[in-house]
Amino acid sequence: MKTPIIIDTDPGIDDVIAITAGLFAEELDVKLITTVGGNVGIENTTRNAVNLVNFLGKDTPVAKGADEPLLNKLVTASAVHGESGVGGYQFEEKAGIANLSNRHAVEEMRDVILHSNEPVTLVPIGPLTNIALLIKMYPETKSNIKEIVLMGGAAQGGNRTPVAEFNIFVDPHAAKIVFDEQIKITMCGLDITRLTSITTENVREIEGYGKVGDMVSRLLSDYDSTTSTQNHFTIHDLCTIFYLTRPEIFKGKRATVNVVTEGEASGCTVTHYTENGHVFVCLDADVEEFRREFVSTFKKVYETMEG
Ligand code: BDR
Ligand code: CA
Repeated sequence: MKTPIIIDTDPGIDDVIAITAGLFAEELDVKLITTVGGNVGIENTTRNAVNLVNFLGKDTPVAKGADEPLLNKLVTASAVHGESGVGGYQFEEKAGIANLSNRHAVEEMRDVILHSNEPVTLVPIGPLTNIALLIKMYPETKSNIKEIVLMGGAAQGGNRTPVAEFNIFVDPHAAKIVFDEQIKITMCGLDITRLTSITTENVREIEGYGKVGDMVSRLLSDYDSTTSTQNHFTIHDLCTIFYLTRPEIFKGKRATVNVVTEGEASGCTVTHYTENGHVFVCLDADVEEFRREFVSTFKKVYETMEG
């Protein structure tokens, strides 16, 4: 039985890699991809999502969501992901973009969740604006959400500020709404995403895996140096998908998470460890296994696409 999931995303180089892994995972059934303004503006994140789905030969529906955070002005990360969000990579624009819904992401999410026989897992890998809107506008969806496995936050440190991770920093008010709910959450924050970096050797291994290997390695060659060092790439968003397909790779602790919404520490995820906490914070991983999973995942995608 595949786990039904919705990926909420702001592609984004690491988003593209995570979505690709998600769409080909045997364990997952991606019911919907929803977009949000984040790494770049909503028009670009939506175009990138649609182009990617077409590139991969899938028919997964895509729905455009919030262009701005709930209260703050949008801050982007085009320095990391390029002006388009996918560096210099040019996806072929297919006519018709058949899988783009003309309804708002939140409406589409609502319908998928309410009509699903199995509880749906939400996988937000961008700012949490759409998820907060869903919870507030359609609270009846909560009982059919299995869990939220998100990339965002950090028990320690930050990347957008010394204490705030980018996705939470962009829309801290939305993040507060989500973390304050008693829905089961798994937080793949900087603590785990930095630990599970991919090596240049791993990337070299997948380079030859047809057009998907070529796409991933080209994207990573444009990934900004704040996110990658000379020999490693931090593919933050991929942790959420591997957490769902290979949970045994990860270790963590239960916590409650308070999001700071104002002032100098805005976007900080203050993490209080407690056995009863509804948030599972990923803190450790079998890094070698994660890297092997990266290579084998893209080998499988290649074989499925071109085999
Ligand atoms: C997060 O911010 C974005 O730039 C990435 O796509 C990832 O979701 C990492 O802080
Ligand atoms: Ca992202």
